[in-house]
Amino acid sequence: MTLHLSNLGKHYGDAPVFEQVSLQVAPGEFVAIVGESGVGKSTLLNCMAGLDSWDEGSVTHDGTDIGALDGEARALWRRQHVGFVFQAFHVLPHLDVAQNVSLPLMLLGRPREDARVAHMLEAVGLPGMGARLPQTLSGGQLQRVAIARALVHRPALLLADEPTGNLDPSTAAKVMDLLIGQTREHGASLVLVTHSESAAARADRLLHLTASGIRA
Ligand SMILES: Nc1ncnc2c1ncn2[C@@H]1O[C@H](COP(=O)(O)OP(=O)(O)OP(=O)(O)O)[C@@H](O)[C@H]1O
Ligand SMILES: [Mg+2]
Repeated sequence: MTLHLSNLGKHYGDAPVFEQVSLQVAPGEFVAIVGESGVGKSTLLNCMAGLDSWDEGSVTHDGTDIGALDGEARALWRRQHVGFVFQAFHVLPHLDVAQNVSLPLMLLGRPREDARVAHMLEAVGLPGMGARLPQTLSGGQLQRVAIARALVHRPALLLADEPTGNLDPSTAAKVMDLLIGQTREHGASLVLVTHSESAAARADRLLHLTASGIRA
C-alpha cells in the first residue's frame, strides 16, 4: 500500500505542531522518522492512521483519501489495513494477553485464530503467556504484546511509535527483525518513529521532522 502525505499541517489554535509535511512510503518500504521530543511525531503518526485530525493537506492510502471518510468508514479502513503500535501501548487491562493480541482479528469478524496468536506471542518472545493479565507483565513485555497485536492481522500499513523504547538492545533487535520481516514478506509499509539510532539505522530512509516540515 502506498501512503501519501501531501503538505500536511496541524495546529492547536494558532500554534502549529507541524506544517508542510509531504512524504510517500511505498509497499515494502521502511521509513524512520526522528525529531526532538514534542515536535509532533506521535501526532503525525496518528494522522497517518486517521486517528487524529489535520487542518491542511491530505493523507491518502492507495488512492483512498482518509480525510474524506467519515468516522465509521475510517474505523473500518483502519481495522483492515493498519497495524498501530502506540507509544503508551494501550493494552486493554481487562483482557488477557491472548485476547489483546487477537483483538484486531475479532474486530474484523474473523474466527479465533489461536495458532496465529500463539505464533505472534512466540515471535515477540512471550511464548505461553497468553493467559496472563496485563497487570502481571513488565513494561517491555506489555510493549511486545502491543507489537504482536499490531501485526496479527498482517496489515498493509504498519505504524510504530517508539516500539523498542522499553526494550533491552537484544530484545529490541529481535522486535525490529519482526517488524522489518513483516514489511518485506507481505509488502507492507512501515513507518517507525524512534529516538533509537540503531532502530533508525535499519530503515530504507531516515526523515527528520521539524516544525517547518520533514526532510531527509
Ligand atoms: N491537545 C493539545 N493541545 C495543545 N498542544 C498539544 C495537544 N496535544 C499535543 N500537543 C502538543 O503537540 C506537540 C506534539 O506532540 P507529540 O506527542 O506529537 O510529540 P512527539 O514528537 O511524539 O514527542 P515525544 O518524542 O516526546 O514522544 C507537543 O508539543 C504537545 O505538547
Ligand atoms: Mg511521541
